[in-house]
Amino acid sequence: MGNGFDFSVERLGRTGVLSERLKRRQAEAREREGQAISETSNETQGPCGNAAGGVAEEEGLASRLAGLKPGTYMGQPLDGELKANGEYIGVDAGVRSFYLETFGCQMNDHDSEKVAGVLLARGYAQVERPEDAGVILYNTCSIREKAAQKVFSRLGEYKLTKKEGQVIGVLGCLAQQEGEEIFERAPWVSLVCGSASYRKLPEMIAELEAGNRRITGLDNDTDETFETPVTRRDNPWRAYITIIEGCDKACSYCVVPFTRGPERSRASASVLEEGRQLAALGYTEVQLLGQTVNSYADPSARKMRFSDLLVATAETAGMRRVRFTTSHPRDFGVDIVQAIEAYPAICNHVHLPVQSGSTELLAKMARTYTREEYLEKIGMLQGAKREISITTDIIVGFPGETEKDFEETLTLLDAAQYDAVFAFKYSPRPNTPSLTMEDAIPEEEKSRRLGVLLARQREIQIARNAKLVGRTFEVMVEGRSRRENQFMGHTSCNRILNFTSPEQEVLGHYRQVRVTSSSPNSLAGEVE
Ligand code: 5AD
Ligand code: SF4
Repeated sequence: MGNGFDFSVERLGRTGVLSERLKRRQAEAREREGQAISETSNETQGPCGNAAGGVAEEEGLASRLAGLKPGTYMGQPLDGELKANGEYIGVDAGVRSFYLETFGCQMNDHDSEKVAGVLLARGYAQVERPEDAGVILYNTCSIREKAAQKVFSRLGEYKLTKKEGQVIGVLGCLAQQEGEEIFERAPWVSLVCGSASYRKLPEMIAELEAGNRRITGLDNDTDETFETPVTRRDNPWRAYITIIEGCDKACSYCVVPFTRGPERSRASASVLEEGRQLAALGYTEVQLLGQTVNSYADPSARKMRFSDLLVATAETAGMRRVRFTTSHPRDFGVDIVQAIEAYPAICNHVHLPVQSGSTELLAKMARTYTREEYLEKIGMLQGAKREISITTDIIVGFPGETEKDFEETLTLLDAAQYDAVFAFKYSPRPNTPSLTMEDAIPEEEKSRRLGVLLARQREIQIARNAKLVGRTFEVMVEGRSRRENQFMGHTSCNRILNFTSPEQEVLGHYRQVRVTSSSPNSLAGEVE
């Protein structure tokens, strides 16, 4: 996003601890100064590009953190002591402490919030430097080779610095994918645990601390979702709610069905209860999460459809914004559009990954829709009574992608008029059907296609954003610049709006902002 904003989060961490990940994100956000919102280089970035968008500082934040009472966390009693300044002293401070770094998508971000919650509730303290931690945890991503490499190189750093008695654990998708092989590649790792086993983490860590050398948790057949009464939220205003885990879609390039297992939806009553609790804590924006969020199938007798759940969440007292990601085109019905039209609290933004504009390639990818069927969904969104912003994911250089296939992806960009595109070079992944497909595209050609695609999309975004100059949007204020009177926030349609305001106490509030200028990736304006 890169706009010189100071995403200082001194009081953000609910334990008073600023996570390393947030710091890294601040640095990454600054590095991306002037770079397109379309993420291509940051291989661990989730599809929605909120890398730095949700991180901000707030005056008087502590008063909003209703759960931060000494001895409790989000209303739950803790074993240790939570000091008034937010610092948490665990039962055996120094020993029972953890450092947690997250790679990957929002699902991983949120899993880490839950993992942190589980450990905090068991008396562990979270520290911001790995060297201070008894337990060092990595929540990993394996969606593309580069993401996996990044984790191994980070693990390599610990070979040199690991201290006697420190436990190093690999969690998440890479753990599930590589399993015990991680111990072979990085023998200084002693815990390997996939997302379906996170509930057992405290017991697993206790076993390691009791002298066990290696522990694995690699179940993938659980029909539970990872629900925990204690979640340590990283963002003071926007909270994630998982509604469905895993994926049954089996796209031929994708590791997710292997790493996150089959689709499991959470009962609607439990989702709505979490929404109510968040609203009671002062959250006004929630994001419903799932790999294919709109494939939601309520396991309870209420049998709510995804659109019903959206509406019920939007109707929760105190809730002002409901986002959702990621949607699969096949399950995207008119009922979702109607819900967005009818409820201003449901954000007018849909992330609808297309992956390719060629029907032949979509068939090879096993995406279960054609170009025409996808464009029908786009037509439905473009024809909505309420303007809806659309974003997408695209893979270039899938095996067998011809010039003609690629050209069809480019023409699809013109037809769909996306507000952001997250484009990736195809990366062969273990276990996936496309691993053995013929006609691999050379790396240089993948890079060339990626460049062409991004240039085309950049033009579209320049034109689309320029048309917004003069209009007024409601913004949820999330960040403050070091420069005086400068703030940033997101519109309901998920655009970043940087703006000036004479009023200082605006963080966490909603303001009407008039757009005065535009760039390919963001808007600028002034508060009305
Ligand atoms: N290679 C490149 N990109 C991939 N994605 C998923 N698997 C791969 C892969 N093997 C992309 C898709 C998906 C996004 C989260 O990551 O575009 O929508
Ligand atoms: Fe992967 Fe396809 Fe499932 Fe998305 S829908 S997580 S791309 S298998």
